[in-house]
Amino acid sequence: MVKIKINGKTFKAPEKSTIIQVADDNGIEIPRFCYHKKLSIAANCRMCLVEVKNFPKPLPACATQVNEGMEIFTKSKQTKDCQQSVMEFLLINHPLDCPICDQGGECDLQDTAMAYGSPKSRYQEEKRVVLNKNLGPLVSTDLNRCIQCSRCVRFLKEVGGMQELGLIGRGEHAEISAYVEKSVDSEISGNIIDLCPVGALTSKPFRYSARTWEMVRKSTISPHDSLGSHLEAHVKDGNVMRVLPKENEDINECWISDRDRFSYIGINSEDRIKTPLLKTGSNFKPISWDEAFHTLERVFHPSLNKFKEDEVAIFSSNQITLEEAYLLDKLASYVGTKQVKFDVANNPNLIANPSLNGMIGDVESFENIILLGSQLRNENPLLLQRLRKMGNAGKTINIINTVDFDLQLTVSNKIIQPIKDFQKTFEHIHKILSTKVAKKENSTEKNIANLLSEKTLLLVGEDIYTNPAFMNLTNVINQLIDLTSMKIGCLPTGSNSVGLQQMFGNYVNHIDDKKYQASISLNLELEDIKDKSLFERVLKKSKFNVGVTPFLNKNSKQFDLILPSTTHFENEGTFVNLESRVQSFSQTISPKFESKPLWKILRVLGNFIDCPDFTFESCSEIKEKAVQKLSKNKLKRFNLINQQVKHHSKDFWLKDINNSDALVRRSTALQNTKRLRSEK
Ligand code: SF4
Ligand code: FES
Repeated sequence: MVKIKINGKTFKAPEKSTIIQVADDNGIEIPRFCYHKKLSIAANCRMCLVEVKNFPKPLPACATQVNEGMEIFTKSKQTKDCQQSVMEFLLINHPLDCPICDQGGECDLQDTAMAYGSPKSRYQEEKRVVLNKNLGPLVSTDLNRCIQCSRCVRFLKEVGGMQELGLIGRGEHAEISAYVEKSVDSEISGNIIDLCPVGALTSKPFRYSARTWEMVRKSTISPHDSLGSHLEAHVKDGNVMRVLPKENEDINECWISDRDRFSYIGINSEDRIKTPLLKTGSNFKPISWDEAFHTLERVFHPSLNKFKEDEVAIFSSNQITLEEAYLLDKLASYVGTKQVKFDVANNPNLIANPSLNGMIGDVESFENIILLGSQLRNENPLLLQRLRKMGNAGKTINIINTVDFDLQLTVSNKIIQPIKDFQKTFEHIHKILSTKVAKKENSTEKNIANLLSEKTLLLVGEDIYTNPAFMNLTNVINQLIDLTSMKIGCLPTGSNSVGLQQMFGNYVNHIDDKKYQASISLNLELEDIKDKSLFERVLKKSKFNVGVTPFLNKNSKQFDLILPSTTHFENEGTFVNLESRVQSFSQTISPKFESKPLWKILRVLGNFIDCPDFTFESCSEIKEKAVQKLSKNKLKRFNLINQQVKHHSKDFWLKDINNSDALVRRSTALQNTKRLRSEK
């Protein structure tokens, strides 16, 4: 630690920290544009210049490290003169079009100009004009407003992993440019909208739809991946107008994926189901909720229709909340079925307690990562950016996979092979370590073997730990854990995959291919289901099919009764993320049309069919019970469960980040991005 003085007050600061970091830590304001705590230092805007004793010129606070005895003045005349001059300089070419700029009211340039600038401009000459660039369907450009801070350029290179934007030209001619005819393709590109300190990069779907002061901010949790990112939905007149990240250093830091940011557009899709629908012949007729529940009563009430064991099949998305899962569990027992498939995107689990087995932030404390399988770029782009950061910091990222995904990170060792060969590879690694005979060997396996220690984390993707071939691998991996003390973790993908697994541990998570009396499908579409043909076969053979879903979709015709459920933003509940963190969220907007949250539908259904202990008044009352049912077991070694692999498909399912759930599929902006990417 070193002792420094800021404005005459003494502070202790870590060595090598910069003046701006010490000032931020101690609540002292220094204006800045190019500096961002998560990006490299560019020091090109000069807005943070401060006077430092014994230095002839002011120094940039973002790029100057503190030294013992340093005396800094953030409010002196010299500092204020610098701030005013830099502000005047930056505004020379800025169009000052705040009244028609989406950033107005939340603009760093506007705020800083008010606080540190001069009220008058001395600039009489013509301002420069920069042509706007088409960066794709998500980000809109107004490059006359750009102050060349280069935050967007550094973000896409350092965090997004792709150098998609650059600064071309010099001095007054410097401008932001994408590569010729290219849009920005990163899965987390929308973060440049938040990073841009002016209105040069704004959200295309949100453009001109609301002013920042007109919206109410509501917190929620991302439903799209297992990270559980913290989101802030901005609401106006009962509609979600945009979604921004809510900073949480332990989980999503200050970023979110484009899927989290733009999925809200799907809420008002034309496919929304307005009322319950009952099949009559080949058509559906709208009915009231009361009629719908009476129809369900006739099918599911034990006194009217007693089912034999396992005569009801239940398919559920892995995005249903803990509360909904708890009610579903009770209803399933009441109607006497264990034919529940609660994670339709995947095979049934083969191992006990698949989870990250640690905290998300702790991943970065390891020296070596071995990524076994997984489609991280499509499944969990923010976890991938943490690995990217590790690679940039000189740690090793090693990949063993069946497909050579372009993860846009620095990879130290890579083995791409069919999954059936994984066992041989791990046995080879084990042999290298246990016999030490292959000292002269020069192979990727040897490189990986040399990395295995307690500072190594083996992360296994969902594709792999649910594939029957993984059963042959567990033994040798467990031996490697014993030999090297390396740590293990799994990468489940659904927003509540871990919660469902912890609650439904006693279910086998599959559906037999047979004739059922009735089926219930919860918040899912054919595109979400790995075994599509089984789903369609079961629905075809079953006597009565209930679909609970917000949207009409390809398989709607197979249902006899369709109940309109809400989307995530109209619902409340709890998810358990991949690190087993229990996170609750409340309703962001009221349900659209006559849709109801799934937990309310299940609760009322329970009452109609006289399911015992079903008198819950609120979602939080259900949560109390649901959380008690979560298993606390941890993943220490790979322990096989559920070895009946007849229900496991060996097929590899290539996932698409913009096709991951019903809401994402209905976000026009995300679908246009997908189309553009596929056309390249
Ligand atoms: S577009 Fe925005 S973030 Fe990018 S350099 Fe210009 S001002 Fe900075
Ligand atoms: S913030 Fe320091 S030079 Fe830009």
